[in-house]
Amino acid sequence: MDFAPLRAAAEATLPADAWSFYQGTADGRFDAERDARAWDRWDLVPRVMTGLTAIDTTVELGGHRFASPIMLAASASQGGAHPDGELATAAAAGAAGMLMSYSNNATVDVERFGAAATSPWWAQIYLQHDRSATTDYVARCAAAGASALVLTVDVPGILADAAFRRVPLTGAVAVRGNVPLTGAGAGFAADTSITPDDLAELVASAGLPVWAKGVLTPDDALRALDAGAAGVIVSNHGRRQLAGVVPVAAVLREIVEAVDRRAPVIVDGGIRSGADVVRALALGAAAVGIGRPVLWALAAGGREALETMLATLAEETAVTIAGLGAASVADITPRMVRPAWGEDR
Ligand code: FNR
Repeated sequence: MDFAPLRAAAEATLPADAWSFYQGTADGRFDAERDARAWDRWDLVPRVMTGLTAIDTTVELGGHRFASPIMLAASASQGGAHPDGELATAAAAGAAGMLMSYSNNATVDVERFGAAATSPWWAQIYLQHDRSATTDYVARCAAAGASALVLTVDVPGILADAAFRRVPLTGAVAVRGNVPLTGAGAGFAADTSITPDDLAELVASAGLPVWAKGVLTPDDALRALDAGAAGVIVSNHGRRQLAGVVPVAAVLREIVEAVDRRAPVIVDGGIRSGADVVRALALGAAAVGIGRPVLWALAAGGREALETMLATLAEETAVTIAGLGAASVADITPRMVRPAWGEDR
């Protein structure tokens, strides 16, 4: 879909620092859309005469069935986009029947969020230097109803995160719910030195499935699975961690091949259309995450605008699946995607 009007409305609504926080990338160029352009380098190849009469867009993830393969990726401080913050996002995700990942650095605390959520949700976490703080927070997430944890493993980049370093946060976008980013006791306490052993420890102690988010190589995907991860999320964190990082569209296929059906692979970064969703599915993703589009919609019109945006993207996805000649998400095959013409030689 054309996100330009929604993005423009968000930019017009938000204070400059909040807009910079949401759009930020590690290289300071604010070119989060480079990942979106990379999806264009895959062309879809339809099958015809398949006798289609109906399309099933549902997917099963972690034992729950969702209406769409689109999930809402974790993004911090949604209260800076709309006063209802993560509560509006939870309501819209529930209405759309989509999975939402709730950020460790949310504006609304996890107990309030969990009480408001109407569909299954996952809690994204960062390992804290103080592991007892992590254990306490994981217990709070479980008690609040999280059905899985998403451990963000691309943390060295936090040292360079445009959002945390270059852009001074105002009260509007500062975290209030879980981890203070400004004021007394401020400081982003994520441990940047994590290893697969830390992941294995979390898997052993959490009592919930743990997904590893931020993987960009086949080798790291396998290390995460060997450590007990329930699945991996291929992500470059919306280009916020490493300047010049590879677009996810370039690495998804090789990671899926290495994982070889041992576990599901989710991808996020630059997904902006039904065609992008389907490209990712054809390359082997079990589902896709969307980050900034959620924030644009929240800023432009809260829950209502977000519901409209999610419905539009879901509809586009269904139309694209039908156009491919597939009856369901499981019916989408690797042969339905190939390098864009002119780029395969
Ligand atoms: C993020 N992302 C993120 N990821 C994470 O694991 N924990 C977090 O707290 C955040 N916070 C966050 C804030 C903002 C403002 C953005 C834009 C992103 C990354 C997010 O989950 C996802 O990987 C990317 O946003 C996906 O790329 P697109 O859809 O924004 O291009």
